[in-house]
Amino acid sequence: MTIKELRKSKGLTQEEASKICNVPLRSYKRLENDSSYLTSLRYKSAYSLLDSYKVYEPQSKYNILVIGAGYVGFSIAILLSINNQVSVIDINSDKVNKINNREPIFKDKEIEAWLKEKKLNLKAYLPNKELYKGQDYIIISIPTDYNIESGLLSTTGIENLVKEIRSVNKNVLIIIKSTCYIGFSETLKDKNVIYSPEFLREGKALHDNLYPSRIIIGGDKSNPKVKKYGLLMQSHSLNRAKVLYMSSKEAEAVKLFSNAYLALRVSYFNELDSFAIKNDINSKNVIEGVSLDSRIGDYYNNPSFGYGGYCLPKDTMSLISQMGGVENNELISSINRSNKSRKAYIVKDILALLKDIPNPVVGIYSLESKKGSGNIRYSSIQDVITDLERSGVQIIYLSDMSIEEFKKVSNLILTNRYDSQLDDVKNKVYTRDIFARD
Ligand SMILES: NC(=O)c1ccc[n+]([C@@H]2O[C@H](COP(=O)([O-])OP(=O)(O)OC[C@H]3O[C@@H](n4cnc5c(N)ncnc54)[C@H](O)[C@@H]3O)[C@@H](O)[C@H]2O)c1
Repeated sequence: MTIKELRKSKGLTQEEASKICNVPLRSYKRLENDSSYLTSLRYKSAYSLLDSYKVYEPQSKYNILVIGAGYVGFSIAILLSINNQVSVIDINSDKVNKINNREPIFKDKEIEAWLKEKKLNLKAYLPNKELYKGQDYIIISIPTDYNIESGLLSTTGIENLVKEIRSVNKNVLIIIKSTCYIGFSETLKDKNVIYSPEFLREGKALHDNLYPSRIIIGGDKSNPKVKKYGLLMQSHSLNRAKVLYMSSKEAEAVKLFSNAYLALRVSYFNELDSFAIKNDINSKNVIEGVSLDSRIGDYYNNPSFGYGGYCLPKDTMSLISQMGGVENNELISSINRSNKSRKAYIVKDILALLKDIPNPVVGIYSLESKKGSGNIRYSSIQDVITDLERSGVQIIYLSDMSIEEFKKVSNLILTNRYDSQLDDVKNKVYTRDIFARD
């Protein structure tokens, strides 16, 4: 059997096999396609690693229902549907049709590959209480927006769903994956409702479910259903991620403190970058010098217009509210202020560059926070645009015209993340993407 046949017999994609064999994807593809490698040591070592890799074969297949087919729900549904019977409910009929036609509902390379290559036991439906019956697990992954009045994440949708589920199914284990405020799950007073936070990155949703950094289960480990759920999730991770059991309140805290740390880190490097702009020093040199200390780390340190996206702003705000009762709260309570002042600083810097141009036109290359994610929810560039418009700057969008016209008409081109398509107009581009990593 060749290495390609071996991989296929285990139902793995080339990317998964490359990770198991510990070789870059490009090198792995060569092992499969170039026969001159057949006798090489590298081929033999990769073959033996792949051969000894045990594909999860569940003792029993479960019936699983996922409510809310977004980044979180759809990726977990795909992951679990390889070995289990998975149903998905969403209120959006377009999404339901797409899922049933095996079409991707957002940009994600790995999900697209799985939809094409794997046999998935997955069916999507519009809301229907009948589907709550006969399930082993029900996973809730609907949005939890920030509620300005309470200062917390809104959990009304989850509360309604739990009530509805319990009216037809008293005992099924319900897993809340939506991000909640700390202490929410306890208020439901139901030992068969647990909280398990999600840490995926948009655009890499399935990848991060296949290789989770950790699996956090907020529920009573002595409840056999809870333990089994932890094992189910672990057995679907290709890195056999560590499972940590704790109380639901602690698990909710893990999620909010993780996202607040990420927001804090973005803000820290952005403030460093603002200092560099103001003092005319090279931000890249300073960040590299700072980050090579292994305690700090050379990653997640690229300046931007500010953190954005669906999660970091709302989760940080919710934690800030909950920190209100803690005397020692200076650092966390200032994250949001730092992000606002970063955006204001960027606007000021741009306006200074435009000051001698009459009726300046600023072109928006992309509204995305993360390059190629296709997601523009709450991206920081949108706040920058609003403030520029208030200052009388005319804004145009690449999405409304050809790239040639866009480059010609714009006095300045704004992009949170750089793209080589802009190489010929580099002198017009305004970005703080100083590392321009993909
Ligand atoms: N996006 C992320 O990177 C991420 C990461 C970790 C945690 N989370 C959290 O997970 C939750 C979901 O986030 P998301 O990004 O997947 O959201 P999303 O907006 O991408 O998807 C949510 C889906 O739920 C559907 N929906 C809403 N109400 C519903 C209902 N009552 N019944 C059935 N379907 C319903 C919507 O139509 C939508 O398709 C949020 O609490 C979020 O904070 C998100």
